[in-house]
Amino acid sequence: MRIFITGGQGQLGTTLQTTLKNAEITATGQPDLDICEKEAVFTAVSTAKPDVLIHCAAYTNVDGCARDPELAYRVNGLGTQNVALACQQFGVPMVHVSTNEVFSGQQENGYEEWMPLCPANPYGRSKAAAELHVQNILNRFYIVRTAWLYAPQGRNFIHTILNRARQTGQLRVVTDEIGNPTYVHDLAKAIAQLIKTQQYGIYHFVNSGHCSRWDFANEILRLAGLDGVTNTPILSHEFERPSTPPPFGALHNIAGAAIGIHLRPWPEALADYMHHHVINR
Ligand SMILES: NC(=O)c1ccc[n+]([C@@H]2O[C@H](COP(=O)([O-])OP(=O)(O)OC[C@H]3O[C@@H](n4cnc5c(N)ncnc54)[C@H](OP(=O)(O)O)[C@@H]3O)[C@@H](O)[C@H]2O)c1
Repeated sequence: MRIFITGGQGQLGTTLQTTLKNAEITATGQPDLDICEKEAVFTAVSTAKPDVLIHCAAYTNVDGCARDPELAYRVNGLGTQNVALACQQFGVPMVHVSTNEVFSGQQENGYEEWMPLCPANPYGRSKAAAELHVQNILNRFYIVRTAWLYAPQGRNFIHTILNRARQTGQLRVVTDEIGNPTYVHDLAKAIAQLIKTQQYGIYHFVNSGHCSRWDFANEILRLAGLDGVTNTPILSHEFERPSTPPPFGALHNIAGAAIGIHLRPWPEALADYMHHHVINR
């Protein structure tokens, strides 16, 4: 199988290249392919002639998107439109990776795949626009929404918590932001299963269960053996930032589970990650 990956130097793009090791992979990063350049995207896809394209490239800095919504739309909206148009032109099924931030987080029971989009910040709006482009342009697509990703090569919540805990011994973490911490390795395995099914549609691939940022931080500290660190619970309004994340942004994996794609519970995945990439490093 020939697979084209955009965002090949990011957390997910890098991990997919290891997970899909039996495939013939073309992976592009921003220096060699800017997804905002339509002609370049068309040339790259027509040259590679992939059987499937996995679109991981995105402007993922949520606060950066809040500061510059036009750039957020340009990369996430227009860039995805370009990729989808190239897939349509050359008959390539597309996996579009999306986010829990396409939902406002006001729904306390969390979100199933078919619920209406209602983004509450510029990053979420740009990713919602991207989903609509994919759905309007293509017949054969998988939209895979995920959340709170972490990977060894990424700058993510785990590294922020560990660095601050080691440097200061004190943390202040919000209790009113709820989501699904997700190990990129598990997401990549689920995508590898999905692309074999041709069961096109919308999926929520997150490690199962959900927690607050504060709970997540406590579990990271416990697994790292950092017992002496003070983790003070705070509310979001006490932690000012440009973007407003969904307060209850938990996703439920209903569609994937129905076709046999399950992701393990988040504490199990986190323990695995910490064991391999933090504790025994
Ligand atoms: N990280 C999360 O917690 C999270 C949660 C939910 C959904 N997602 C979604 O999951 C997908 C993968 O996320 P990730 O964590 O792997 O993100 P990531 O590590 O930030 O990787 C994204 C990649 O896209 C590249 N990129 C940015 N602008 C580009 C452009 N104009 N043309 C080509 N490439 C460009 C970035 O390159 P530079 O580094 O050079 O800018 C980066 O390598 C994204 O669609 C994201 O929206 C992520």
